[in-house]
Parts: sequence; structure tokens; C-alpha cells
Amino acid sequence: MAKLAFLGLGVMGFPMAGYLAKNGHEVTVYNRTRAKADAWVAKYGGKAADTPKAAAQGAAIVFSCVGDDPDVRAVTVGANGAFDGMAAGSIYVDHTTASANIARDLFAVAAKKGIRFIDAPVSGGQAGAENGTLTVMCGGEAAPFEIAKPVIAHYAKAVTLLGPPGSGQLTKMVNQICIAGLLQGLSEAINFGLKAGLDMKQVLEVIGKGAAQSWQMDNRGKTMIEDKFEFGFAVDWMRKDLRISLEEAKKSGAPLPVTEVINGYYGEVQKMGGGRWDTSSLIRRFRKA
Ligand SMILES: NC(=O)c1ccc[n+]([C@@H]2O[C@H](COP(=O)([O-])OP(=O)(O)OC[C@H]3O[C@@H](n4cnc5c(N)ncnc54)[C@H](OP(=O)(O)O)[C@@H]3O)[C@@H](O)[C@H]2O)c1
Repeated sequence: MAKLAFLGLGVMGFPMAGYLAKNGHEVTVYNRTRAKADAWVAKYGGKAADTPKAAAQGAAIVFSCVGDDPDVRAVTVGANGAFDGMAAGSIYVDHTTASANIARDLFAVAAKKGIRFIDAPVSGGQAGAENGTLTVMCGGEAAPFEIAKPVIAHYAKAVTLLGPPGSGQLTKMVNQICIAGLLQGLSEAINFGLKAGLDMKQVLEVIGKGAAQSWQMDNRGKTMIEDKFEFGFAVDWMRKDLRISLEEAKKSGAPLPVTEVINGYYGEVQKMGGGRWDTSSLIRRFRKA
């Protein structure tokens, strides 16, 4: 059993860190808002620290799951950041969905201190974190990955190394580009069917057995028809992910014409007050009037 630290106890981090404690590891947590760290300790045991640095001291692996690039920077190399508390040879695993650039930067900064950095964004949403069934996409070096993999597996059904630093983040971008297109297609199709007077629940049951089937159709189709949008991954987060993807596309020269348009549609959903609605709320644009 290892000494571990977990930074960021949000919707995702709280249950993920919980799985580490439930599997017998000695876990110290840090959360910017202390009350969440205290609530975590009350539920799972372990210790809470006042800074990322204090949490990271003595840990074999430090995990984080915060918001965006500046937040990852703050908890790693900011004042009292984790890197200052970590020993040479220890491993840092970042589960935040962030840019590939920050993953590469932090890999280099960490390497100078002998710390081994792995970018490891996740897919599977709040339910995946709570059920311990996330998909984890990693970038970095093989040796630390092999050490971290069985520990990450406490909250994941798949943990895969996809290439050098940044590869985990790039894979997550591919995932988000796919999801944006799928949800816009589903929104147009469901709206089209409803306007045509079809029983769309029955329609999805039928076509869900054919080539149009998707996870989004199976899991969100019914709730989209019912105009319900409180099922996990929020539009505000999706806009961050699409921004990161579009920035990366500009650098690599890969055109993302449809993703760019859908990003604008998500902007409209935010203006409708839907920043915290789940990502299937794209269909709401057709229900404005
Ligand atoms: N929610 C999902 O379904 C989902 C799915 C896949 C991936 N993700 C990704 O996972 C990450 C976390 O998502 P979440 O849903 O868990 O978010 P969340 O509930 O908003 O939690 C964010 C966590 O990060 C901490 N944090 C943010 N900025 C910080 C800073 N500058 N310094 C220190 N701590 C900071 C927050 O601390 P406070 O408590 O003080 O605010 C909180 O613990 C995001 O990158 C998101 O895109 C989320």
C-alpha cells in the first residue's frame, strides 16, 4: 500500500480519491476550499493538508483533478505547489482536462526535479467517477505509467498509455470532438422527428439497434426528448474542452469546421442560462421559442 496525495476534491476528484482510500492506501487530500477536504476525511479517513505542497510531502504518487490550465499550474508550480513538496523519483498524475502544452511544460519542469509527470484526463463523467469505471487516457513515460496504472485502476475500467507527454490530453480532445458532433446530430434528429409527429422514444429504440446507435443516443436520447438536462458533464466544461481542442487544431493545421460551429452553439446555450446544464442541452436551441 502506498502513501498518496490527491489535490482537488470536486465532482470528480472526491469519489476518485475515495477509491484510493477504500483500497487501503494512505491518502492525504488538499482542496482549495477546506470544507470539502474535511468532508472527505470525515467520509473516508486519511488526512487533509492546507497546501498542495504539504499534501504531496512523502507521497509516492500525487494526483490532481482541478479545472483548467491555470489551476493545474497553481497546484503544481504555484506558491506552495506540489512539486516543491515531492521527492525525486515520485510520480505526478494529472487528471484535469487541460491543454497538451501544459502537460508538456509540466513534464519538463517536473523532469528537472526528478519527478515523473503523467497527463491522464478521464472520460466517463460523474457516474464513472462514483462507480469507479472511468476511462483514463495517459501521456508520458512507460516506467512511471506502469507503477501508476494499478493505482489508477481503483477508479477506472481502462487505463492506457497513448504516447509521449501531452498524448493523454490530445486523446481527450479527440473524444470531445466526437461527442460534440454526435450531440448536435442527435439534437437535429430528435427535433426533426418530434416536428414530424413521430413517437421519438419508440424511434430511438428502433434505430438504436442499427447503425445510428451511440452511447449518447442510449443514455441521453430519452432525457433530451423529455427536456431534462441535469445529467453530468456541464456545458461550461465542454466549452473549455472545445476551446482547448480548437487552439490545438490551429497549431496542427487540422480543420475542425463543424466543431467550431457547435462551440458557438454551446455559447448560445450558456447565454440561455445553461452553463451548468449537461451537454445534451444543444437541443434546447430548437426549443427557444
Ligand atoms: N464533471 C465531469 O463530468 C467531468 C468529466 C470528465 C472530465 N472532467 C474534468 O475534470 C476536471 C474537474 O472537473 P469537476 O467536475 O470535478 O470540477 P469541479 O467539481 O468544479 O471541481 C474542481 C476542483 O478543482 C479545484 N480547483 C479549481 N481551481 C483551482 C485552483 N486554482 N487551485 C486549487 N484548486 C482548484 C476546486 O476547488 P474548490 O472546491 O475550492 O472550488 C475543486 O476541488 C475538469 O478539468 C473537467 O473538465 C469532468
